[in-house]
Amino acid sequence: MTDRLPHPRILVFAGSIRAGSYNKRLARLAAERIARSGGHPTFIDLRDYPMPLYDGDLEADQGLPENALVLRCGLADHDGLLIASPEYNSFITPLLKNTIDWLTRPHEGKSGLELFKGKYAAVVSASPGGLGGLRSQVLARQLLTHIGVTVLPDQLAVARAGEAFDDQGRLKDEAQGEQLDAICRRLVETLRSLKT
Ligand SMILES: Cc1cc2nc3c(=O)[nH]c(=O)nc-3n(C[C@H](O)[C@H](O)[C@H](O)COP(=O)(O)O)c2cc1C
Repeated sequence: MTDRLPHPRILVFAGSIRAGSYNKRLARLAAERIARSGGHPTFIDLRDYPMPLYDGDLEADQGLPENALVLRCGLADHDGLLIASPEYNSFITPLLKNTIDWLTRPHEGKSGLELFKGKYAAVVSASPGGLGGLRSQVLARQLLTHIGVTVLPDQLAVARAGEAFDDQGRLKDEAQGEQLDAICRRLVETLRSLKT
């Protein structure tokens, strides 16, 4: 029965390239849970897709960076997104903003914004601070909404992230694990309902 249901493809990444990134850990956990809920997650590390800081002159001279083109193809191939958004000075990271900025640029007559339009996303965050990066989620939601993505209202902000994960990278707090489960399930089910 379950096999007859569509398996929505969801691109999962964090707005941090740090090796020990808490948000990458959270994104990896989310990818596992998306798979368990019947989705097809693709976890990517933005470390593997370096891009220069957006520069209109560079774009005019050389077009989009190769990695932006690769990510555009990846995005086109997915139904939804799950983003773990770290918080820098109460904001999203420059990495996340820069990545989205490049992806939204037009290329060979095709709008980058079209790639985002109609997609669904979930946003989560982790931070060593007491708010768990919640303020960055607000801004990530705003950014995604403005480029045509529908963001689920569910929130998970993992505070004091240094102590929040066990040796296996799992969330120690059962309630947080259940929250992450619920978010991933809802994203998969929302995308499924749109496909059927
Ligand atoms: C420039 C800078 C600003 C930061 N500002 C905040 C902040 O406003 N709120 C917060 O909770 N953490 C802040 N932090 C701490 C980050 O949450 C912390 O470095 C976190 O580990 C980054 O996410 P990551 O583990 O996924 O790399 C800041 C870190 C940096 C480098």
